[in-house]
Amino acid sequence: MMLLLCCHFCGAGFQPALFFCAAMLYNVPMCTTDKTRGVFAATVLENRPLCDEHYLIRLQTPGFPATEAGQFVQLQCRPNAIPDAIRVVDWTDDAPPKLTGGEIADGEPLLRRPLSLAGRDGDILDIIYRVVGRGTGWLQRAAAGTELTILGPLGAPFPIPDTISQAILVGGGVGIPPMLYLAKALNAAGVQTTAICGARTAGLMPLATDDSGQSVEFSARGAHSILCTDDGTLGRGGLVTEPLAELLAAADDPAAVAVYSCGPEIMMKYVGLATTDAGAQCFLSLERSMACGMGTCQGCIVKIKDDSERGWNYKLCCSDGPVFPAESILWE
Ligand SMILES: Cc1cc2nc3c(=O)[nH]c(=O)nc-3n(C[C@H](O)[C@H](O)[C@H](O)COP(=O)(O)OP(=O)(O)OC[C@H]3O[C@@H](n4cnc5c(N)ncnc54)[C@H](O)[C@@H]3O)c2cc1C
Ligand code: FES
Repeated sequence: MMLLLCCHFCGAGFQPALFFCAAMLYNVPMCTTDKTRGVFAATVLENRPLCDEHYLIRLQTPGFPATEAGQFVQLQCRPNAIPDAIRVVDWTDDAPPKLTGGEIADGEPLLRRPLSLAGRDGDILDIIYRVVGRGTGWLQRAAAGTELTILGPLGAPFPIPDTISQAILVGGGVGIPPMLYLAKALNAAGVQTTAICGARTAGLMPLATDDSGQSVEFSARGAHSILCTDDGTLGRGGLVTEPLAELLAAADDPAAVAVYSCGPEIMMKYVGLATTDAGAQCFLSLERSMACGMGTCQGCIVKIKDDSERGWNYKLCCSDGPVFPAESILWE
């Protein structure tokens, strides 16, 4: 296996794939022909806890292209160090390469991490992340002023059909952040919106509440909210699918309702089934482990139904999705 240890070059004389690898892994600006996305410099403006495990990081990203709710970015989660030289080394099972130069030896994640956009104000991007491992653990320690790189915007956004007058957002855990961005877009489109947000317990809910138990963040975006925790320590005790079923049953015209969801896959499966049974539209944002985030590594496949003989085909979660119509997803 060939391992590329790379760094600074302009692309001349190199295979495009190698250049892509370098740009993906390190802080090399990408010369893509697609002017709507690329690698951009970002400066941390603010990075603060919202609850026990979730943080809000606010990034100044001059020149970042237009974004829409449901899109995500790949954020560098390691120091901004550039290795000294490009090295191509042979790597066999018997003789692993001797790695030097800090990039790999320092143990920090090489690959950027996929994170949804939770909001945007001009060139300031908001991301809400949960600390689960090495990358997000490093990010948690990034102080204001830290320089990072960000690849994006990536993925297909949530559609807002002009036939809908009501939207129900269902977010679970780290699926809540993209719902905040979507609530703002729906408010601008004049769609009446309710956000149902679930967490295991109060300490894992990345939202503040007012005296009436409403989420301050969703209220600021013109949306009513229903908060649920599995253990009943905040809001309603129980699953998000219960208030969803009540709202769907109360809808006068289900065809004018769209349900949007992001969170644990089992939750989205039942959100999708309940919604399509009720005759409303449903869009789900799926999550897969992602290396490139832009359709190159083929590592993020999902099974999507189609008209072929076997009835489905593989699609890429990062570039065909992450948002898919619920009825198109083949659940396993
Ligand atoms: C399109 C997309 C949007 C996302 N948006 C957000 C967001 O807005 N906020 C947020 O907090 N997280 C989000 N995630 C998940 C986030 O990318 C992972 O939590 C992050 O990559 C973990 O990196 P790490 O280095 O801290 O953890 P690692 O050290 O890589 O892994 C730690 C643990 O987390 C698990 N893990 C890592 N990545 C994922 C994943 N994608 N799905 C499930 N488990 C995983 C690993 O299996 C391991 O058990 C998103 C993922 C995708 C694909
Ligand atoms: S993450 Fe590489 S193709 Fe999707």
